[in-house]
Amino acid sequence: MGERLAGDPALYFETHIFFCGNRRPEGHPRGDCASKGSEKIRDYMKVRVKELGLQNIRVNQAGCLDRCELGPCAVFYPEGIWYRLDSFEAVDKVIEQHLQRHGRAEELMLP
Ligand code: FES
Repeated sequence: MGERLAGDPALYFETHIFFCGNRRPEGHPRGDCASKGSEKIRDYMKVRVKELGLQNIRVNQAGCLDRCELGPCAVFYPEGIWYRLDSFEAVDKVIEQHLQRHGRAEELMLP
């Protein structure tokens, strides 16, 4: 794993979230996050982060993150923590536990 070096600039975002929005043709053996609702869930997360006034948090749509079978998935950096976020309730939980309390939403974490 890469480590930050002493001369590196400060992190631009406190937490930078990449949320998979990939969609594959129907019937693809790996499935995809978009067909499991990731676009609406990501949009909800963006709205909630803004409504709550959370600073220096960025939620970006990503392409396939290669953990398709476990999705809808998102990865949070710089921590490098992966979550399965399959509902608005899951998003509420991860916002509270990870972004506001600076802990982990352990029940949602991917191994
Ligand atoms: S389709 Fe979402 S991780 Fe591959």
